[in-house]
Amino acid sequence: MNNILVTGGAGFIGSHVVRRLVKKYPEHNIVSYDKLTYAGNLENLADVKDAPNYHFVKGDICDGELLQQVFADRRITGVLHLAAESHVDRSIVNPMEFIRTNIVGTVTLLNAAKNAWKDDFAEKRFYHISTDEVYGSLGAAGFFTEDTRYDPHSPYSASKASSDHLVRAYHDTYGLPVVITNCSNNYGPNHFPEKLIPLAINNIKTGKPIPIYGKGENIRDWLYVEDHAAAIDLVFHKGKNGETYNIGGHNEWTNIALIRLLCSLMDKKLGRQEGQSAKQITFVTDRAGHDLRYAIDASKIQRELGWTPSVTFEQGLEKTVDWYLANQAWLEHVVSGEYEKYYEKQYGKLSAEN
Ligand code: NAD
Ligand code: DAU
Repeated sequence: MNNILVTGGAGFIGSHVVRRLVKKYPEHNIVSYDKLTYAGNLENLADVKDAPNYHFVKGDICDGELLQQVFADRRITGVLHLAAESHVDRSIVNPMEFIRTNIVGTVTLLNAAKNAWKDDFAEKRFYHISTDEVYGSLGAAGFFTEDTRYDPHSPYSASKASSDHLVRAYHDTYGLPVVITNCSNNYGPNHFPEKLIPLAINNIKTGKPIPIYGKGENIRDWLYVEDHAAAIDLVFHKGKNGETYNIGGHNEWTNIALIRLLCSLMDKKLGRQEGQSAKQITFVTDRAGHDLRYAIDASKIQRELGWTPSVTFEQGLEKTVDWYLANQAWLEHVVSGEYEKYYEKQYGKLSAEN
């Protein structure tokens, strides 16, 4: 598996995966393949852009011809598939883009791999990176295991569920050597500020309201992005074909408790009085079909491959805040232009006094 194609390599998680592989495996060629949508950003990989084993191809995973060419020219032997439309709120407004990229794009990529490898699958691997959202929503108790029945509720999670099924179908029908992981919520540097944690960091810093959907009682299981990248590296190299592994942080927080913790940390970092940032918390209309609770049972990957998270939430959150405060230019580039239009449409004009 020496020539590795990483789709979505310019995105949040993809960029951490690419950086890790480029640095750890100098003898392997890492080809980042990305359409550079609003979420793709080559600045995420500025530090490795000149590495001899890093290559970038601007392309759409729905473009079968380009994929065929890249598989041939670069002699691709392994795929890490992260390219996707990833934001639930956008999927509620514009589901078709999610169907196109997440479903049609995944099957186009599966075909490209199958055809390029000409059904000789020795020493090949197609690794599909998926989400815990395919399992639906938990009540107060229990965890998602690899055997939990799929029950997606948003167009995003339904499109990811569909892509998971297609990947398994290519394994069962054609023998394509696939592996799938379903991970919980990631956070960390380079996270696009449409997602809760970076959006809140940005709004706290700039004195804007922090929008909390509903009563803030929904629960997510947060994992530091570099721990996810480490798990992906491990599964790619040591996971078993045809298997699924769940990845999670054993780190459940209600949204409101998480935001209060973040506000308190930001008060310290910004030299504010304790309690000042929390005044920006603003409860807004709930997300349609909002899943109540996600929580992953990650005992399989721990037992079989020896993976556990290395960073506590307090450490990870502090690293994240420090990164955003130190990378003002990155944030300013990202929130200019299209982001402003999106923000206005999604949140309207929120007032801090709500
Ligand atoms: P992201 O939105 O930050 O990045 C997605 C990347 O895919 C971007 O660089 C974008 O330009 C690229 N892309 C989008 N459409 C494309 C297309 N048609 N062709 C080629 N490239 C395209 O997403 P992320 O948060 O880094 O998530 C990466 C993957 O991990 C996704 O598959 C997502 O479902 C999965 N995942 C994410 C999380 C999370 O918490 N963020 C958790 C579990 C699983
Ligand atoms: O669980 C894995 C998933 O985590 C990934 O598959 C998705 O790609 C990723 O975006 C993430 O989905 P969520 O919907 O859980 O993440 P988000 O950051 O959008 O929201 C986290 C929680 O915070 C959720 O309960 C909704 C809430 N929220 C979100 C935003 C953007 C708010 O209360 N206010 C907000 O403004």
